[in-house]
Amino acid sequence: MRTQVGIIGAGPAGLMLAHLLHLEGIDSVVLETRGRAYVESRVRAGVLEHDTAQLLADTGVGARMRREGLVHTGLELRFEGVSRRIDLAALTSGRGITVYGQQEVVKDLIAARLAAGGEILFDVTDVELAGIDSDAPVIRFAHEGTIRELNCLVVAGCDGFHGVSRGSIPASARRTVEHTYPFSWLGVLAQAAPSAHELIYAQHERGFALHSMRSPEVTRLYLQVPNGTESSDWPTARIWDELHTRLATNDGFTLKEGPILEQGVTPMRSFVTEPMRYGQLFLAGDAAHIVPPTGAKGLNLAIADVRFLAEALTTWFRQGRGTGLDEYSARCLRRIWRVQHFSSWMTGLLHRPADADEFSHRLQVAQLEYVTTSTAAATTLAENYVGLPLDWSSRVDTPVTPTVPFA
Ligand code: FAD
Ligand code: DHB
Repeated sequence: MRTQVGIIGAGPAGLMLAHLLHLEGIDSVVLETRGRAYVESRVRAGVLEHDTAQLLADTGVGARMRREGLVHTGLELRFEGVSRRIDLAALTSGRGITVYGQQEVVKDLIAARLAAGGEILFDVTDVELAGIDSDAPVIRFAHEGTIRELNCLVVAGCDGFHGVSRGSIPASARRTVEHTYPFSWLGVLAQAAPSAHELIYAQHERGFALHSMRSPEVTRLYLQVPNGTESSDWPTARIWDELHTRLATNDGFTLKEGPILEQGVTPMRSFVTEPMRYGQLFLAGDAAHIVPPTGAKGLNLAIADVRFLAEALTTWFRQGRGTGLDEYSARCLRRIWRVQHFSSWMTGLLHRPADADEFSHRLQVAQLEYVTTSTAAATTLAENYVGLPLDWSSRVDTPVTPTVPFA
């Protein structure tokens, strides 16, 4: 088999890259270890930044999102029993977010690729990269009982945190920066109408809670839990009790309950691989970086990476100029570190720290009061939450990677 760009992974990054390349007349083949039904039903993120939603619409894969997605122009920060609204639209010249499940984005992208005659091979196994430091890389894999080879000019490693791409770069040619948080999230999907029109991020002495949604009939909820928590530690009654406690207000907020459709525990980590290129292999999305989920950035960052990559590949294939590809890693990393900071800041603002005491509590409340009363502070939250413009990174002119590694 032969193609211009071999894409490993049919998550949001791999599928969006294949779609953007197709619009530029560039061929790709997507290889995915899971089955189509699995990737189309995997419940993960749900918040699309303003520009992510706009990209889906502008490139012809946004019709269902525009119909079924929920546009929010604000969010609630809840602490000390009171909710205060951050007016995202007023603070960002009319920008907002769209609540639309990641698996719905994946379904729409798969449908568009297949309708356009694009090739996605599901259920592949034994994926291996060879020759990525040459101009003729090869991806070897097994599919339907046969060992196959995909010859390409470029490989895009979009295979998530547990994929093979990152590990195919020699250890001496990459470095990682990592941070583990002392807590995890228990995520719950409930067949219940949302209890509020917008997302509620709640800081509480028992820990963080988040009220989100997927549709007018389905609520998505999260609870901060200790690391090492098993989903089975949380029977239904315990989940609702804890959510009622952490989301309570002084003026009688009522949380609507319903059958729990799904629940699971996700650890929280920050992780960045630098650089995101080795020879003809380019990493994108979770294959290169993970952010803690507070702030809902993982999916959006993956989409920003592949926008940069599609643009650089288009210039390279059309005009033979490789400067965009040379700058790809630094361009992505500037945005990644900005988002890493924002997600970590939001996490610290809202979670109960491991060493919680009166002092840490007072600082958190002071910061929450500031963010919800000062236009300057609220704007900082709002512009990051709805997503900085794609060209934001070009405003920074200092190199992102220190020449002398931080010891
Ligand atoms: P992925 O979506 O991980 O896609 C990678 C694809 O590659 C997968 O389909 C995988 O099956 C495939 N693959 C793996 N190995 C191989 C291989 N060897 N060969 C071929 N294919 C392979 N973000 C938020 O903002 N909010 C959330 O609430 C949130 N919840 C999350 C919950 C969980 C359990 C996880 C894991 C992530 C969550 N995220 C969340 C993060 C967000 O979902 C990711 O940032 C996003 O999925 C990144 O997209 P991606 O395409 O880079 O990677
Ligand atoms: C959702 C996830 C997030 O991480 C977040 O900050 C907001 C919403 C969600 O799954 O709906």
